[in-house]
Amino acid sequence: MDTASIASSNQTVEKPATRSSNLSKKCKLWLVWGIAIGLLFVGSLIGGLIYYYTQQANHAANAQVPPDNGPSTDYTSNTTIPDNPNYVRSFWGIDYTPRGAQMDLGCSVTQNDVIEDLKILYQLTPRIRLYGMDCNQANLVLNGMNALGIDMGVIMTIWVDGNSTTYQRQYDEFWKTTQQFGYDRLIGVSVGNEGKYFCPAVLTSIFRKQTTVDDLVSKMEDVRKGLADAGQSHIPVYTTDINDLDQLLPHMDAILDNVHPFFGGTTAELAANWTWKYFYEVDQYPVLKFAKTSGVQKPAVISEIGWPTYPVNETVKGAIPGIPQLQRFMDDYVCEANKRGIPYFWFEFKDEPWKQWMFNETRESYWGLFDENGNLKNLTLPNCPMAPWTKGDLTFPQPAPLNTTN
Ligand SMILES: *[C@@H]1O[C@H](CO)[C@@H](O)[C@H](O)[C@H]1NC(C)=O
Ligand SMILES: *[C@@H]1O[C@H](CO)[C@@H](O)[C@H](O)[C@H]1NC(C)=O
Ligand SMILES: *[C@@H]1O[C@H](CO)[C@@H](O)[C@H](O)[C@H]1NC(C)=O
Ligand SMILES: *[C@@H]1O[C@H](CO)[C@@H](O)[C@H](O)[C@H]1NC(C)=O
Ligand SMILES: *[C@@H]1O[C@H](CO)[C@@H](O)[C@H](O)[C@H]1NC(C)=O
Ligand SMILES: *[C@@H]1O[C@H](CO)[C@@H](O)[C@H](O)[C@H]1NC(C)=O
Repeated sequence: MDTASIASSNQTVEKPATRSSNLSKKCKLWLVWGIAIGLLFVGSLIGGLIYYYTQQANHAANAQVPPDNGPSTDYTSNTTIPDNPNYVRSFWGIDYTPRGAQMDLGCSVTQNDVIEDLKILYQLTPRIRLYGMDCNQANLVLNGMNALGIDMGVIMTIWVDGNSTTYQRQYDEFWKTTQQFGYDRLIGVSVGNEGKYFCPAVLTSIFRKQTTVDDLVSKMEDVRKGLADAGQSHIPVYTTDINDLDQLLPHMDAILDNVHPFFGGTTAELAANWTWKYFYEVDQYPVLKFAKTSGVQKPAVISEIGWPTYPVNETVKGAIPGIPQLQRFMDDYVCEANKRGIPYFWFEFKDEPWKQWMFNETRESYWGLFDENGNLKNLTLPNCPMAPWTKGDLTFPQPAPLNTTN
């Protein structure tokens, strides 16, 4: 079917019921995140009240951001990338959070860690997506790429949690990073990651100030204006969100959706088929419909897709965490998604055990292809090689619309 016939058909797009279980789970996780952020603020108040006031005053005066006290970009790592035959550049993109990049856990990330990660990531994917700007992480990534002499496309995220101080800190860091490293590797900017849909309003108002569509739209416009002022208006700006698409879509340059067959409660065997259908119905169909009415075609992108490996008893209906399950889903999904032309970021590079504490959810910590120390799990990685990323490639491929009579 072509775009026009899809958009003019009477098809109604139902959100699968599975999204709500995903949402309520995210809600629970983010409540704990809210508590953690709260703890951070208490700590910050005790440890850094004066610093924050100074910073706020500087922002108000539109002055220079104070010098960064984050980790050093010095490194001793061997910057030759050893060729590992087990690694094939088969993933369109990979979600990446460097270890120790959580401000409330003390920002222990080092340049050497990030360089060692990039040596592997470069062999697995042309692109990475980061979740925030704290702890110098984007700076370490870009500096690490310079050190290794590699190019990869990077989506940077300016974290939105409803607290203007957190946002301002990340926002300032974003512009500081672009000033230092330029825009060459920046393939997109996400203003927030599921910033709007964590919890029912009553709970949200206790733990965090809920971000609204209007707030996200004005933040996106502001970032877009900043990019235009820097002569970079070609860089797409969006948020990563899952509802109110109709309101957000006119203000975004792409839809980014975190798509999780696991939380949909499907078995690993059915997960790839589940995903093709979900992506079409929830992400691709709305942009095709929007293109019909507005004449503007925007890409739909899967910003997270993956499968947890532990603990096996924490199931969601038919979805069981496990390495064999991850292997099965990866085998069914990765090369086929590449063939179809679906842009996606695999979730995720390494396990993140810190989330056990942060989210009170063991299962949330073990989505890595690698364990937290960078050892490949007992997996055979997919083998459908693609070229490294090249400067200026900001394209998102789009698959042919699914024939939903299948
Ligand atoms: C936002 O963060 C600042 C600085 O840490 C803190 O003083 C303020 O109370 C926070 N606001 C909310 C609504 O949590
Ligand atoms: C750096 O790593 C490469 C590839 O593994 C190796 O051939 C080389 O000997 C290493 N150099 C040093 C100084 O360790
Ligand atoms: C997935 O869908 C395809 C095409 O509809 C079908 O041939 C295949 O059997 C399905 N796979 C599973 C495991 O159901
Ligand atoms: C899974 O097993 C662990 C111990 O092996 C236990 O602590 C945990 O509560 C179990 N989770 C569920 C959901 O049963
Ligand atoms: C963490 O989960 C346990 C078991 O589900 C629960 O008893 C505890 O209250 C939770 N803690 C937080 C901070 O949510
Ligand atoms: C790794 O997985 C294979 C199945 O793919 C299994 O036969 C083997 O026992 C596993 N090895 C370890 C060390 O768990």
